[in-house]
Amino acid sequence: MASMGAVSTRVAALRWEGKLAILDQRLLPWEERWVEVLSAQQAVELIKGMAVRGAPVMGLVAAYALALEAHRSPELSHLEAQAQALAKARPTGVNLPHAVSEMLRVARRTPERERAEALRAAAENLHHADAQACQRMAELGAAFLSRSSLSVLTHCNAGALATGGVGTALGVVRALHAQGRLCMLFACEARPVLQGARLTVWEAQKDGLPVTLLVDGAAGSLFASGAVHAVVVGADRIAADGSVANKVGTYPLAVLAQRHRVPFLVVAPTTTFDLRCRTGAAIPIEQREGREVTTCGGKDVAFQGVGVYNPAFDVTPPELVTAIVCERGVIAPVTGENLQGVLG
Ligand code: MRU
Repeated sequence: MASMGAVSTRVAALRWEGKLAILDQRLLPWEERWVEVLSAQQAVELIKGMAVRGAPVMGLVAAYALALEAHRSPELSHLEAQAQALAKARPTGVNLPHAVSEMLRVARRTPERERAEALRAAAENLHHADAQACQRMAELGAAFLSRSSLSVLTHCNAGALATGGVGTALGVVRALHAQGRLCMLFACEARPVLQGARLTVWEAQKDGLPVTLLVDGAAGSLFASGAVHAVVVGADRIAADGSVANKVGTYPLAVLAQRHRVPFLVVAPTTTFDLRCRTGAAIPIEQREGREVTTCGGKDVAFQGVGVYNPAFDVTPPELVTAIVCERGVIAPVTGENLQGVLG
């Protein structure tokens, strides 16, 4: 397949120039504030608090934080303790422990006096690889969607704010736009943290993508109206059987997509696959605090003390996924065998 030009964006989640800074996503879209990250402990707090979120970029921030720690103290025991805290900061996105174990692998094989430099290079390599993967997935995903012109529904934020590049799902959307094929990007708001409303809409507006916001519950009537031609989402962890963990609310969209015969595309780099999880049931699902649900915009919307069910992610079974796009190729149909075939 001929390669198209690189997809671009005006959005970045992190900056690295020997110093690490992240764009505080809790404050978007109202304020663009960059926060310098000075330690692994601070990175853990920023990840837990979702100042930085999205599976791939959490891994990159953890990698750079370990590189910074190695400058402070290159001792292996120190780096291992910091790595452990980083890997556990949020439990579902597997890119985080993947990046941390890659950094530890480099640390363990490098003499102490060269360790800081080696870890800096390793973090930069991970960042570069993620940006390259986003470009390749954008190209493959846009080619897989064969309609000459289409409207795409997405959920949560799988864009530049969630990666080290142009995004996973939103990379594909950006490619469609660059090719003049995108009619409309429909963004579900993604209650309760509102990554769709606050982040995806902000990214779309930054890059001039046509975007329409809907509450999560409006997806059904939108499908029924015939306005959705494809669903394109990211992933936080993909099991060996092709089950996909992504932002809660993704699974109902996959059910709707099947009901309305609309392709359901998952876009995720190979760092999001976890072959040690044989099925979706083995993927750990983060449960978040009830206050995210009982409040809205800082105000109570339910009486205090009500029981709350607040999983941050859900699992979509492989039979509802039309294809998984990773930087190595397109997995379709989604079976364990085809997944092994592409991952090698
Ligand atoms: O809780 P979040 O905001 O970290 O959840 C993020 C998602 O679910 C994204 O869709 C996923 O990480 C893919 S990002 C390329």
